[in-house]
Amino acid sequence: MQAVDFVDGKLRLLDQRELPQTVRYLDIANARDARDAIRDMAVRGAPAIGLAAAYAMALAAGEAARADDPVRELKVLAAMIADARPTAVNLRREVEVAMDLLTGRSETWFDVALSHAESMREGQRLEDEALARNALPLFRPGMRVLTHCNTGALATGGLGTAFAAIVEAHRQLGLSEVLADETRPRLQGARLTAFELGRAGVPHRVIVDGAAAYCMAQGLVDLVIVGADRIGSDGRTANKIGTYGLAVLARHHGIPFAVVAPRSSCDHLWPGAREVEIEQRDPREVLEFMGQRVASAGSDALNPAFDVTPGGLVTAIVREDGLFGPPYAF
Ligand code: MRU
Repeated sequence: MQAVDFVDGKLRLLDQRELPQTVRYLDIANARDARDAIRDMAVRGAPAIGLAAAYAMALAAGEAARADDPVRELKVLAAMIADARPTAVNLRREVEVAMDLLTGRSETWFDVALSHAESMREGQRLEDEALARNALPLFRPGMRVLTHCNTGALATGGLGTAFAAIVEAHRQLGLSEVLADETRPRLQGARLTAFELGRAGVPHRVIVDGAAAYCMAQGLVDLVIVGADRIGSDGRTANKIGTYGLAVLARHHGIPFAVVAPRSSCDHLWPGAREVEIEQRDPREVLEFMGQRVASAGSDALNPAFDVTPGGLVTAIVREDGLFGPPYAF
């Protein structure tokens, strides 16, 4: 099941908004629709967003080459794609990488951007394998593991980040159980991670996000392992809302808290030269459930999509180039 592909000149996305009930693919022919698909989370997960952005830049390159002023049009489309979501470093970075590549004659742009995206996908596949290998020392046979959001094959061009590590650990060592946070409000854990764990044959149960403290206090968790949307130079990690709370809880209960992410999710300019914008999403994601209003009429919602875990709470960071412990200096 491939989250991001390019077929017959179109960007093909597995529509993650409808999983696991419906398996539907979107065939996207232009940069604007690609931007909308990223913003509306038909594709999500930092590396997958980066990959989708690389393919979206191929579509943009093709469109711009047909415009009266290709350079100007390319800049407009690139800015539009880069603004789709603000927090994952991968999105803006891949747009910038593509822009750096598109310097020659505009007739060549599409092929250049497309072949870059294709090699990036292969790169993510290899990265994910290295992540899973490098994370293995974090696991012991029979461990009970808690994870948050979705970091599987749906979130990358390969087998996933933290998720791939979990699956590999189960294959090699045998895990007792994975607890998957449901991950309010978009339910990436309940819908996507549980789906992927089931397909991978990993024993698991879904918990509501608020049950994590209970599970830790009951001794049901030996390791918390998550992905990242952006890792700062000191190990601070922006990830799905609720991750910071898990890290605080893990520290309180003496449980290791690990982050698994490729180097492409690292931002050595943060903090310092760059600050990170935390995406604020539509309040209706919180106020409604399956399209039905559940919150009291007239109430508004605060809906930050990510939070930042200080590096001091992160026991280990796994990248494709190794396993790192604090203090971090990336
Ligand atoms: O809003 P999402 O679903 O794009 O958020 C995804 C996450 O927070 C993931 O944990 C992160 O991107 C790592 S994906 C390998």
